[in-house]
Amino acid sequence: MLIDRYNRIHDYLRISLTDNCNLRCQYCMPDEIYHFMKNDKLMQADEIKSLAKLFVQNGVKKIRLTGGEPFVRKDIGDILMRLTQLPVEIAITTNATRLHLYWDVLEKSNAKSLNISLDTLSAERFFQITKRDQFHIVWENINEAIRRNFHVKINMVVMRGVNDDEVLDFVRLTENNNIEVRFIEFMPFEGNEWNCQEVVSMESLLESIQQNWSIESIAHYIHDTSRKYKVIGFKGQFGFISTMTAPFCSGCNRLRLTADGKMKNCLFSQNEVDLLTPLRKNENVLELIHQNVLDKAKELGGQFTTDLDKIDPLQLQNRSMISIGG
Ligand code: GTP
Ligand code: 5AD
Ligand code: SF4
Repeated sequence: MLIDRYNRIHDYLRISLTDNCNLRCQYCMPDEIYHFMKNDKLMQADEIKSLAKLFVQNGVKKIRLTGGEPFVRKDIGDILMRLTQLPVEIAITTNATRLHLYWDVLEKSNAKSLNISLDTLSAERFFQITKRDQFHIVWENINEAIRRNFHVKINMVVMRGVNDDEVLDFVRLTENNNIEVRFIEFMPFEGNEWNCQEVVSMESLLESIQQNWSIESIAHYIHDTSRKYKVIGFKGQFGFISTMTAPFCSGCNRLRLTADGKMKNCLFSQNEVDLLTPLRKNENVLELIHQNVLDKAKELGGQFTTDLDKIDPLQLQNRSMISIGG
């Protein structure tokens, strides 16, 4: 088992398949020229399976595939089918622009859960945020995923002055759909021009939702990123991912692999351990994994606290979000 110094058992691995994406959201991808990873630096399908297998043998029960956008990777079908051979739950985080090309492979695989990024319900605003005109296909694919009974969660990064006026409309999506909408506090990453004024806290959103509906809280697991609620009488639920104002690190069970095969023990960890090179050289990878788990900081990668005014995003040592995968 992968247990850290704070007795947290790590049984959830997030694997980024690529740092490439077909959208250009500023909160995720730096504005200046970003150099995507070269193909020979990326973990190949067989290497992903080998590393995943090692983690599964050491207690990992859930693998989430992320990006960039995982479905821009041409061999995602092959990767999914390889991972489906392992005794592990598979989930995917995606922008949903390409799901219509993959329904068959998804249905054959173990991936039954799709977390879909959507920050607005307006096609015009979608273009402003993502710099791509893809709202309609995303919306169609979300509805098709629901129709096909995938477990769907919608991720909305709430940013003051950008899309916070749509929060109630997103809650309304849960009226007739058995989905979970998650409101995510805007987090700082390399190049994303994070500013504490743009963070909208879970507390303030909860208050404005409560002014409109009667809601109840729903039990959540200690490992969950989101605090969950529902409007009484609505089919679905909503939740808050409150990293910035109420971190949930004490229950953290997550480890990460970047697309170039570096292990990160936290979303905000500075130190990364290269697993791909030793794997390619047939060296002992498990020892490196254990050491990296032991090196995990107690909270937020040891990089900041909830005193948002004091965070200097330029001082944070981390990658950009697009190359971590969330
Ligand atoms: P499940 O709980 O498996 O449904 O997924 P998730 O919510 O953890 O993952 P998803 O990829 O949908 O990410 C949603 C948001 O949660 C993104 O903003 C992620 O960056 C954030 N997130 C995911 N994992 C962690 C984590 O371990 N810590 C923190 N602070 N945020 C996380
Ligand atoms: N802060 C919070 N969430 C973010 N995401 C991307 N960038 C940020 C950020 N700066 C979310 C996306 C995606 C998930 C993987 O991470 O919405 O759904
Ligand atoms: Fe875990 Fe780091 Fe996220 Fe906290 S910030 S929950 S320690 S990954």
